[in-house]
Parts: sequence; structure tokens; C-alpha cells
Amino acid sequence: MLSNKRIVLGVSGSIAAYKGADLASKLVQSGAIVDVIMTKAAMEFVTPLTFRAITHRPVVTDWYDSSSELSIQHVQLAEEADLLLVAPATADIIAKLALGIADDPLCGTALATRAPMVIAPAMDANMYDNPATAENVAKLKSRGAVFAGPGFGRMASGLIGHGRLAETPEIIATVRQVLGRHGDLAGKHVVVSSGPTEEPIDPVRVITNRSSGKMGFAIAEAARDRGARVTVIAGPVSVPYPFGVDIIPVHTALEMRDAVFTAARACDVLIMTAAVADYRPVTAVGRKIKKEDMASLTIELTKNPDIISEVKGSFIKVGFAAETEELLRNAQSKLRGKEMDLIVANDVTAPNSGFNVDTNKVTIIERSGEILDLPLMTKDEVANKLLDRVAALLTSPSGRPAKAGTP
Ligand code: CTP
Repeated sequence: MLSNKRIVLGVSGSIAAYKGADLASKLVQSGAIVDVIMTKAAMEFVTPLTFRAITHRPVVTDWYDSSSELSIQHVQLAEEADLLLVAPATADIIAKLALGIADDPLCGTALATRAPMVIAPAMDANMYDNPATAENVAKLKSRGAVFAGPGFGRMASGLIGHGRLAETPEIIATVRQVLGRHGDLAGKHVVVSSGPTEEPIDPVRVITNRSSGKMGFAIAEAARDRGARVTVIAGPVSVPYPFGVDIIPVHTALEMRDAVFTAARACDVLIMTAAVADYRPVTAVGRKIKKEDMASLTIELTKNPDIISEVKGSFIKVGFAAETEELLRNAQSKLRGKEMDLIVANDVTAPNSGFNVDTNKVTIIERSGEILDLPLMTKDEVANKLLDRVAALLTSPSGRPAKAGTP
């Protein structure tokens, strides 16, 4: 997603400057070309050599560096940048950016560039809460700058509050989202259900399944990075939620049904990756079932509603079929029976495919009959292949289903 993107990373003088090195490294690993500009204060905390070694590129520290390989650095970098990321951004740099002061190469580049700007503040809580900083942040936001964080927690000073540099995954997610905001799903609302559901047996036990939520989260992130507004209805998962999307946590199939019906009222695309429990206990016992009470135990189950079949509207409806046999036949019958526009047939018995892994082997089947058999790929790649098809359906005059009734 960041392949060959030109990112100018401005590092200012915060104790969090060392985290800028991790950020630079992760950006480079994601394929970005990273040019670092350091303020003088930043160099009190980390050396330019650190960033040079990570980015394999010269680091700008001075307006007048005659040894630099970059000519008139701030102009050249400003013109070439796809995005300017200031991380960590101190209260001082934020104030200078808000005022348009250009007395160092970082602020000069910020003033000269037309690239979007992402700012990740890092400062003591009192400084962030100060009305002067709040005004500067508001001013920069009104001009289109996007802020990542700051997080809440313990600061180097020992104070607890707002001012911690956002974690690297959140900053990178913000960068990806900003770079993709005019993508082919811009202006669309994509709803993704993800993970398993869990159906209570008693206060400590549930019926659930092996779904990890990884496929749904990969789709949510990919849709976000193509410009969509994304709502994720997430069953109980242990992988971290994606950033930059609305999360609606649910537990049971009935809760997921309510959440899907509400979100689907105003969506363009519904993608049900969730492994919804087909059955739930007829009664959830109010106290813990004790084994002394009985020699054997029978739990009576009742069928859960089939959410994707019930939900109707003029959105593109995408389902998944997790199968262990008769992959195409079962998936095609679900596509028709559940009135989907597209189904992702997922062979969960293929090596490195299905639950709890980062790769998947899928076949995408459309209502038109078109079949796209994909090789084993990462879930991010699968997500983008799927969204290519969804984007095509959104723009094709015949793709958009005219279904009667709303949920
Ligand atoms: N699904 C749903 N509500 C359910 C069960 C499934 O909305 N109660 C959706 C899933 O999110 C998925 C699709 O239906 O998009 C197919 O789910 P899957 O579990 O493969 O199929 P089932 O219909 O449950 O059939 P079976 O378990 O018998 O294969």
C-alpha cells in the first residue's frame, strides 16, 4: 500500500524521537521512500545516523548543508512528497506550523509543500491541554492537517494524561488512510462483519468457533485505504481492532443481527465475513453449571437467524463461505439462496488458508456467474482483490442491485 510513496518524516525534539526510528523503519518496510528532516532539538535525542541507516537516504538537518546530496532541500522534498508526516511533533513545532513560521528545514518544507500533512503530537499532558496548543491544533485541523493521537497514558515526566505519541501502527494506519482518501471507494460506506459470535451457555461458558477476525479486519483496512468510511461489527476477537474505522463490538448472533440491520440502513456495501454461530442454547443458565449436579449434560440449541439472508436493501451484499468440501457447489448455492451479489468461497482445509492465519486461498464468485480463482495470498491481498470486484460492481450500471425493502 505504501509502495514507492514519498514520505517526508519530520522529527522534532521530544523524548519520543527514538520512536520515530521505529516509525521510519516500519514505513520503509512497507515500501515507502522515506526522507527524514530533523530539528536541532531532535538531534539532542537521536542522531541523524540512526535515520540514515534505516532509510538509506540522506537526513536533512540544516538549511545550508553544502555536503547534502539534496539541493535546496526544503523545496525539492516539498515538491516530491506524497505526504509530510511530523512525528513526534512537539508543542513548539505545532505552534510554528500553525503560524507558518519557517525558520528550520522542517517548518520550511511544511510551508512549501502541497502534500497532505499528518501530525503525531508528543508532549507533556499539561502542554497538550494548554489552550494555546488546543488553538494551534484546531487551526491546523481546519487547514486539513490530520492528527494521529496523541494517546492517553503515562508520560516521561510521570504525569498521566493526553500527550503520548500514538503507537506506530496507528500512525501508519493514518498515513495509509490519508494517502488513499481519494481512492475508488471514496464517499462509500462499507460495513464489514468480522470474527466469531459467542453464544452463552452459562456465565462462564460459550459456544463459539475458530474465526480470528483477521480476514474481516484486512478488508476493513483495505476499504479504509481506498477512501471508504468503514464500520466494523466485530465479534469477540483477540487480534487488535483496525484504526480509522468505526467499531461496533458484539457478542451474540442476535446482537450482530441488530448491529448489521442498523448499519445496513445507510451503507453502500455489506461484507459479512463473520462466522456467525448457526445455533444458540435455548436458555443461557443464570448460574455456573456444576459438574456434581449431573453425570451427563445435554444442551438444547435453537437456530440463530441467518443475518445475511434477512438483511435487504440497495447495497452490494458480499458473503463468505467457509467450506471443507464441495467448495464451489456449496458457495454457489449460498450465493443464490442468500441473495448475495458476490461470494468469497474459502477452502478452510487448504494449507495456510482460513482461520487464524495471515493467508487465504479463495475463489470469488459473482452473481453474473463470473469466477475468479485466486492463488494462496495474504489476507490483505485477498481484501484488495475482493474490493476490486466490489468497486467494479459499484460503478457498473447493472451491478447495483435493485432490491426491494429495507431491513
Ligand atoms: N451468515 C449469516 N448468518 C448466519 C450464518 C451465516 O449472516 N446465521 C453469513 C456469514 O457471515 C457468511 C455466509 O452467511 O457470509 C455463509 O456463512 P457459512 O457459515 O459459510 O454458511 P451457513 O449459511 O452457516 O451454512 P453452513 O454452516 O451449513 O455451511
